[in-house]
Amino acid sequence: MPAGKSPVTASEIFKMKNRGEKITALTAYDATFARLEDEAGIDIILVGDSLGMVIQGHKDTIPVTLDDMIYHCRACSRGVERALLVADMPFMSYQASVEQALLNAGRCLKEGRVQAVKLEGGEAIAETIRRLIEVGIPVMGHIGMQPQMVNVYGGYRLQGRKSFEAERIIHNAEAVQDAGVFSIVLEKIPKGLAGEITKRLKIPTIGIAAGPDCDGQILVNYDLFGLADQYKFKFVRKYLEMARDVREAVKKYGEDIRSGNFPSEAESFE
Ligand code: KIV
Repeated sequence: MPAGKSPVTASEIFKMKNRGEKITALTAYDATFARLEDEAGIDIILVGDSLGMVIQGHKDTIPVTLDDMIYHCRACSRGVERALLVADMPFMSYQASVEQALLNAGRCLKEGRVQAVKLEGGEAIAETIRRLIEVGIPVMGHIGMQPQMVNVYGGYRLQGRKSFEAERIIHNAEAVQDAGVFSIVLEKIPKGLAGEITKRLKIPTIGIAAGPDCDGQILVNYDLFGLADQYKFKFVRKYLEMARDVREAVKKYGEDIRSGNFPSEAESFE
């Protein structure tokens, strides 16, 4: 979809695959970056539970709470006019029961002001996805390497290299498609497998570390901006060097204060 003014809906994202249009997606956690990304024409802004790492400084996404997510979603919603705003349901906010998922996803829409939620998982959460959609909550799927499974995997390893793993991922992709998701994130799987899933599914695939053959791509915005430079990922393309620039700017600001160069006459009131 060309970056116009009309708001992007979940069904619009679904239709983009048939039209052969690539889907652009990026995370955001605050109103300022959400506004800038929206103005630049991104189709989907995901308030990712990656905020556990890039905002809160944890080593994984496990400690992120639903209240944390709602706080950041509400902030982002004030900056977004066009993009589809999606809340990432955090660990243990939807896995315990369908009822828990309904109440918590409902809060993301009512209090966080998003238009859809994202859930990690395959067949095991298909019933939950069905019920969420039945009550009016569009759902985005997320399979392949599921960061909320880090303690089962023992790290953020590439998934789907072995043929039995690849078959399980394909099966899970089909299960969440049948349950009604409007799109699905494929994370950290071999590019051939991502291409195969993209060919088989009617819903769009949004890749991260899944190669070029997905229907769209998503990255963590702090990675794209070069802000989270403590992490080095093969699949990230840095479009800015913000960490370096921020360090240099703050250093210069300190020097200007110490030398008496800031504030100047022009920066002062009579
Ligand atoms: O939490 C997140 O930011 C995500 C995306 C990177 C897919 O789940």
